[in-house]
Amino acid sequence: MQKLIERAARDLLNSKYAVALTGAGISTESGIPDFRGPSGIWTKNPEAETKAYRSYETFLHDPKKWWEERLTGPNLLGDLAGAAPNAGHYALVELEKVGILKCVITQNIDGLHEKAGAAKLLEYHGSVLKLRCVHCTLRFRPGVFDLDKLMAEGKLPPRCPFCQGIVKTDTVAFGESIPQDVADMSLEEAWKCDLMLICGTSAVVYPFANLPRIVRQRKYENQWKTETGLSRAENQSSVTIIEVNAEPTPLTTEGISDYLITGKTGEILPQIVEVVKKLRK
Ligand code: APR
Repeated sequence: MQKLIERAARDLLNSKYAVALTGAGISTESGIPDFRGPSGIWTKNPEAETKAYRSYETFLHDPKKWWEERLTGPNLLGDLAGAAPNAGHYALVELEKVGILKCVITQNIDGLHEKAGAAKLLEYHGSVLKLRCVHCTLRFRPGVFDLDKLMAEGKLPPRCPFCQGIVKTDTVAFGESIPQDVADMSLEEAWKCDLMLICGTSAVVYPFANLPRIVRQRKYENQWKTETGLSRAENQSSVTIIEVNAEPTPLTTEGISDYLITGKTGEILPQIVEVVKKLRK
């Protein structure tokens, strides 16, 4: 493990544009359950996953009913308001501060990367800390609307003050498209990066799980161009994909990632940062 941590630190230091991708695994050490890990929400309650797949249909069919269920029902992830970032989130912020990590793209809706101080953050599946107009994609802090008052007066769903579109939670439901702005910016990061650090995700949900595959495809193309003489090796950026996860994922077994550091993100990422700081001296 130590050798892989040192290898990851050197790869990060040699990179020109490193991007981190994260999933629910980075938040479990903050007390927020993941979905498909051994004690994940879907693992323990498959019906909840089936119900989650129906949520967006309800929204499209009857947004008022969807909001009423939202405001009166339980939150699957528990009390997110009280959750705090852990050492894994802060380690990524450290990598941003030393100029190595250029962007974090997260599937998590818990807002913990934002709370930890991530500078450039793309919330691929949205955030519980925001609402979003489904028409113009404008985002709002929840306090902008008095949701309980709207419910009491039978005036749900909230309407966007700018385009009158329907406003829902920013969190992206199964079956709902990734908001175009986030989708485009994430794709741009995948094209720009020469190192992808993938933390705490089972990498089975698309289109997010496509991002590492796009980077891997670039690596193959670069190798092919160099081998065929179509371009000189020195101007082809090598690409490194590193996984930090409690267990292997399809990215591991399909050879998409170069290597997997197995264990807890909250323990491994700070060790990587420590080696980076030592080597930078
Ligand atoms: N450190 C490292 N890995 C961890 C840790 C930890 N502390 N805790 C859990 N893991 C691993 C699990 O073993 C699992 O492989 O993180 C991974 C989490 O995978 P999922 O639970 O599938 O979460 P994620 O990949 O983020 O799910 C993607 O699915 O249900 C949707 O919208 C939801 O954004 C979510 C998406």
